[in-house]
Amino acid sequence: MNSLSEKFYVTTPIYYVNDIPHIGHAYTTIAADILARYNRMKGSDVFFLTGTDEHGQKVEKAAKDRGMTPKEHSDLMVKNFNELWGKLNIINDAFIRTTDSEHKKIVQEIMSGLWKAGEIEKRSYSGMYCTPCERFWTEKDLKEGNCPDCGRPVEKIEENNYFFLMSKYHDRLIKHIEQNPDFILPETRRNEVLGFLKNNQLGDLCISRPVSRLAWGIPLPFDEGYTTYVWFDALVNYYSATKYLAPEKTKTDFWPAQHHIIGKDILTTHSVYWSTMLMALGMPLPENIFAHGWWTVSGKKMSKSLGNVTAPGELVDRFGSDAFRFFLFREIPFGLDGDFSEEALIKRINTDLANDFGNLASRVLTMAEKYFAGAIPEPADEESEMKLLSEEVSSGFDRSLKRLDFHRALDEVWRLVSYTNKYVDSSAPWNLAKDPALEGRLRTVIYSAAEAVRIITLCLHPFIPNSTGRLWKQFGFGQDIQSFNIQTACLWGLLQPGIKVQKGDALFPRIETENTAAKQEKQKNKEAKKEKQPMTEQNITDLIGIEDFAKVQLKVGLVLSAEKVEKSEKLIRLKVDTGEERQIVAGIGKSYNPEYLVGKKIIVVANLKPAKLMGNESHGMLLAATGDDGVCSVLVLDRDVKQGSRVK
Ligand code: ME8
Repeated sequence: MNSLSEKFYVTTPIYYVNDIPHIGHAYTTIAADILARYNRMKGSDVFFLTGTDEHGQKVEKAAKDRGMTPKEHSDLMVKNFNELWGKLNIINDAFIRTTDSEHKKIVQEIMSGLWKAGEIEKRSYSGMYCTPCERFWTEKDLKEGNCPDCGRPVEKIEENNYFFLMSKYHDRLIKHIEQNPDFILPETRRNEVLGFLKNNQLGDLCISRPVSRLAWGIPLPFDEGYTTYVWFDALVNYYSATKYLAPEKTKTDFWPAQHHIIGKDILTTHSVYWSTMLMALGMPLPENIFAHGWWTVSGKKMSKSLGNVTAPGELVDRFGSDAFRFFLFREIPFGLDGDFSEEALIKRINTDLANDFGNLASRVLTMAEKYFAGAIPEPADEESEMKLLSEEVSSGFDRSLKRLDFHRALDEVWRLVSYTNKYVDSSAPWNLAKDPALEGRLRTVIYSAAEAVRIITLCLHPFIPNSTGRLWKQFGFGQDIQSFNIQTACLWGLLQPGIKVQKGDALFPRIETENTAAKQEKQKNKEAKKEKQPMTEQNITDLIGIEDFAKVQLKVGLVLSAEKVEKSEKLIRLKVDTGEERQIVAGIGKSYNPEYLVGKKIIVVANLKPAKLMGNESHGMLLAATGDDGVCSVLVLDRDVKQGSRVK
């Protein structure tokens, strides 16, 4: 798709700061990272942009619930996103925030331009408004009287507003989609948008909100009584970032983008609103909008309450970022919905990563060490079948990634992984090594297997950068894997005989899981041991009077920030507002991802003597219950009560 240009501009949606980042956000961002890494390795001038969407009612409300200003709240949430991107090995070139002054200025310039060009009109408007979705609907859009998107009640609102004259671009948009088959992918989504446009007449788009209803937004440059509709502000980020955040080392004009990667939930705003806005501005449209599918977790929709179970940061701590990145793209074709479960993740680690790839690499390294004192031998012959397959795989891999078909790209690589594993098995180097007359054949087998591993490692690098980087060093293939041009480096036969290999730790250790029968047996034993405690004298003498309880000062605390204590698996350091700001160190690190706790209202023992835990002062203690399995559950208020309130 981007064959004509050397530049490569890829974006993710800018995420709302009203929620903690979860697997869904990680998914889109890793997809963009894989493409960015791959295109950097192809020598393109890459700009990979992600960021946060910080205006609008949702954010205003989330901040209010936490007793913060929207900006304070956003600053904290942005930290969560950036921390996660670091953990997931995401190398974005820039991070845009819609509260950046440069972005706000560009949104206002665009608004003024459209207003002057007569593309915006003021009208009286009456419609059904869904506050959570921040969208107007017509009566006929509603589903049983409720919002067709989220199912929640809508309210009728009548007011003067500004409208972008989107309807006049109806036919031009259809034509653009028809003439550019890759503009919307996958094809099912393209057909969906075309079907919608052909069966409905596009209306005009309300792009303002009265300040009285939405103060947290960008003021309209031509009417101070209004702020900009959050989607109008947000979509402009893709363009505004090219003006003040694009890499300075290049003079490239990054607009238009090669790919806007989004989830299927926001396809209309991108394919219809954004495209028509660009048409009105006389600007080129992005080359491609790719709407991927939806992840659920163990069959359930992701939500804040599931945050602790599915927090990507915690999965990375337990399984490593490569395994998590790989799983998401190996498991489900990009475009289809998927269900995440730990069992499925562990299965992928054990089969594809540990057994297939990890084992292959380790066998080849071991044999090079054993039979050739750790040097790659000179082959006696060229394995032409293997060479041909490797060429097919490299070009299939490239073709697939150009279409964002990550799944197919990995299938291609796995053809070479499987072939090479079988090749080693059937060539049986351990037998060849016994017969000096077969030394030439042994050299060919070890060289060819190592050459295949080299090419596989290059292809997998954008997906699993950590482990491929390590393997690259073990094989002594060269300094930095990222500095190789993937297309030329994937040519068969470039491996230099004589280079020294050095085997390290296993790349992907197998993850042992208890089988179900063993688990049930353990549970039964536990139950049998556990006796119900009758009321005894001992228990009775343990009773305390109200005056004893009154000595304990319990207070409501708002968690302002939370982070793991370095070198400790268990400890989390929290900043908590209990009427006064204090630091608390809690041993809940094995049960919680710190980011999940931010914004929660918890119960704090406020008059505990300070203590020092691994060098960190703790002023108080939070209340948590511990289950039989050792997993803690922090006591969280189920209604909003002001921080500092006494708990009695
Ligand atoms: O919509 N499965 O932000 P958002 C897969 N601010 N992907 C998911 C997902 C899931 N369960 N949940 C979220 C917004 N995503 C706007 C965007 S862009 C100019 C403005 C991913 O925080 C997916 O990419 O609600 C989806 O489109 C995006 O997060 C929505 O993020």
